[in-house]
Amino acid sequence: MSAAELEALVPVPEASPEERPVLVVDLGGQYSQLIARRVREAGVYSELVPHTLPAEQIARRNPHAIVLSGGPASVYAEGAPRIDPAILDLGVPTLGICYGMQLIALEGGGRVDRTNVSEFGKTELRAEEGELFANLPGEQTVWMSHRDSVVAAPDGARVTAGSSSTPIAAFEHADRRLYGVQFHPEVQHTPHGQDLLKNFLYEVAGAPPAWTPATVIEEQVERIRAQVGSARVLCALSGGVDSAVAALLVHRAVGDQLTCVFVDHGFMRQGEAEQVVETFGGHFHVPLVHVQAQERFLARLAGVDDPEEKRKRIGEEFIRVFEEEAGTLGDVRYLVQGTLYSDVIESGGTDGVAAKIKSHHNVGGLPEDMSMELVEPLRLLFKDEVRRVGEELGMPERMVWRQPFPGPGLAIRIIGEVTEERLAVLREADAILQDEIRRAGWYRQVWQSFAVLPAIRSVGVQGDERTYAYPIVIRAVTSEDAMTADWARLPYDLLETISSRIINEIPEVNRVALDISSKPPSTIEWE
Ligand code: XMP
Repeated sequence: MSAAELEALVPVPEASPEERPVLVVDLGGQYSQLIARRVREAGVYSELVPHTLPAEQIARRNPHAIVLSGGPASVYAEGAPRIDPAILDLGVPTLGICYGMQLIALEGGGRVDRTNVSEFGKTELRAEEGELFANLPGEQTVWMSHRDSVVAAPDGARVTAGSSSTPIAAFEHADRRLYGVQFHPEVQHTPHGQDLLKNFLYEVAGAPPAWTPATVIEEQVERIRAQVGSARVLCALSGGVDSAVAALLVHRAVGDQLTCVFVDHGFMRQGEAEQVVETFGGHFHVPLVHVQAQERFLARLAGVDDPEEKRKRIGEEFIRVFEEEAGTLGDVRYLVQGTLYSDVIESGGTDGVAAKIKSHHNVGGLPEDMSMELVEPLRLLFKDEVRRVGEELGMPERMVWRQPFPGPGLAIRIIGEVTEERLAVLREADAILQDEIRRAGWYRQVWQSFAVLPAIRSVGVQGDERTYAYPIVIRAVTSEDAMTADWARLPYDLLETISSRIINEIPEVNRVALDISSKPPSTIEWE
């Protein structure tokens, strides 16, 4: 038997989901990331790749399928993004969405025109039997957003759906494995969109729904082990979900080779520092150094009331404390960071090469000149996936679903100087607010909800006595990504309960106000 014949007998280990991705070719549409997320929600690992990627490199990734995203431009516009046409000859099942469909038509011998009928918004679609529409209603509502239309499908393709103004709203070329839809299956306004994507993934592309939190954990644990070997690893815990999940993954992979350092600056919310210590040290038995640096931080903020100066001093002090601790741990080669897939996409690098530490101008941001290699076990995950992995790892609900919380913590929610007394007042008010928001079922419905302490006083009357005390401001916002935000319409009853509890339970407070500003022009935080 020849070597090659022998080799053929060796069972090939089944590819992990990440080794057979669905590649979403980003043609600049606003929904490209959303497509990747929808594919992942269907249990198939998916990555965004630039449209400039040559066919050969795409083939090398051995993808289960390719999705060409929407795009902002007309295919005929100058500089309109194009793909390497050889991609369509790879024999890999390819789905074009909106602009992506038009590119397939154009490259495949069809025609795209400006028909002077643009469609935006909900549209009624009539679909015929086809692979994409299998087991879906013949008539359904879809979301359209296009000016140009496909007026001739690619040679040999079959038109499978149309709307009143767009006769070619979908086509299929089963032999060439090319599929196109003019509408957006990835958005919520296309109620059967996810089913259509599943038809494409499971039936057309034969991709198994194998990407689950459990397989993510398994895969990452292996990768971490391969990366760090028997070296020692350091992780800075912030109390947030990203660093917590990253730390737990690394701990699962290399156990006590990991040391977590939790710099407690004293600006966390009520019970949070205790929860970090209890969860990591107590429950998961992760080696944890809890640095109680509250007094140092307060001392650094004495007399400071400028917001940026506060941030700067907290950031510097954080690095100083962290370095001191790291210095006592001996030879540590690796540093864990909770970098997410959205950060990777934003910085334009999806090649998975571990970079040396970059500065994050933030608290929890780490020294720039530490010569450690990064371990980034969340690099492939979106935020909601990090949460699901956290749940699977058994992290407490409060940590998994924690709202975003700024690194400098309560210090930037006290306007003016941060003192021990003011911190205590704000922490108590915030705890009451969180308690009532949770009780009323609003905690996960809002992006952030918190209390702010403007360090002014106003007059009130309690009992028969005149008071001169602090106000508390309630801030609750809805948002997708913190770039814009709207004030949350909390029910009056809930606001009333929060207000009366804060005023009755905290002697230093005699007034509660509600912040009803959106971002822009306001910001979410007050400082
Ligand atoms: P703004 O106030 O700019 O906040 O609308 C947008 C988002 O960023 C968070 N934020 C911070 N996060 N360090 C952080 O880690 C900071 O200094 C900081 N300032 C604001 C804020 O909570 C919101 O989610």
